[in-house]
Amino acid sequence: MKKERNAIVAPSILAADFSKTGEAVRYVEESGAKWLHLDVMDGAFVPNITFGPKFIKDLRDKSNLFFDTHLMIEKPERYIREFATAGSDAITIHAEACMHLNRTIHQIKGEGKEAGVSLVPSTPVSAIELVLEDLDLVLIMSVNPGFGGQSFIESSRRKIKELAELREKYNLTFKIAVDGGVSLKNGQSLIDLGTDVLIMGSAFFGSANPKEIVTTFQGNS
Ligand code: DX5
Ligand code: ZN
Repeated sequence: MKKERNAIVAPSILAADFSKTGEAVRYVEESGAKWLHLDVMDGAFVPNITFGPKFIKDLRDKSNLFFDTHLMIEKPERYIREFATAGSDAITIHAEACMHLNRTIHQIKGEGKEAGVSLVPSTPVSAIELVLEDLDLVLIMSVNPGFGGQSFIESSRRKIKELAELREKYNLTFKIAVDGGVSLKNGQSLIDLGTDVLIMGSAFFGSANPKEIVTTFQGNS
């Protein structure tokens, strides 16, 4: 059966062995994936700590992948410039962690980067309706952020569908990304709802055949 639309696969470096991060990035490149998802956690907005701008800068020097930085940090407006300068191509902040969302979105764009906003599972789409026209990316978290390897929360599907409908209704162009519990098994159903970017941590790095995942969803383009 011919698929109607493809999606970008964005492997999440969180699921890699951090002592071999350079090799993990090459592994992602060899799979054909177009994006690399970089989860920044501060131990305050989420109960885990990962890495900061230097880590991203060091990887930037080794890769031409599209760097999709997901900031799970409080008051992300404090660090937009650092993550932009480090070489992020897109910077996504959390609506729940940022008081003046409109201003921070424009701060990201002012750095010449694509701007994304993410919602945790309990935040409704209506929270960002007024900024949708300013966004390049909306990231729907389909697990509670903080850790890889959790199960997909099914109510996220309603949010993806609602966003896709709003995008169509207002003729907007933002991409919809889904993050958490995404796999070879549920990916196509998420694309069918309107998803453009499948973020995958454990499903990608745990797979014996990551190329199969990428060609299944991204096609060969
Ligand atoms: C979780 C992160 C995700 C994580 C996804 O807070 O935002 O990007 O790496 O991991 P999986 O695909 O294993 O659920
Ligand atoms: Zn993420």
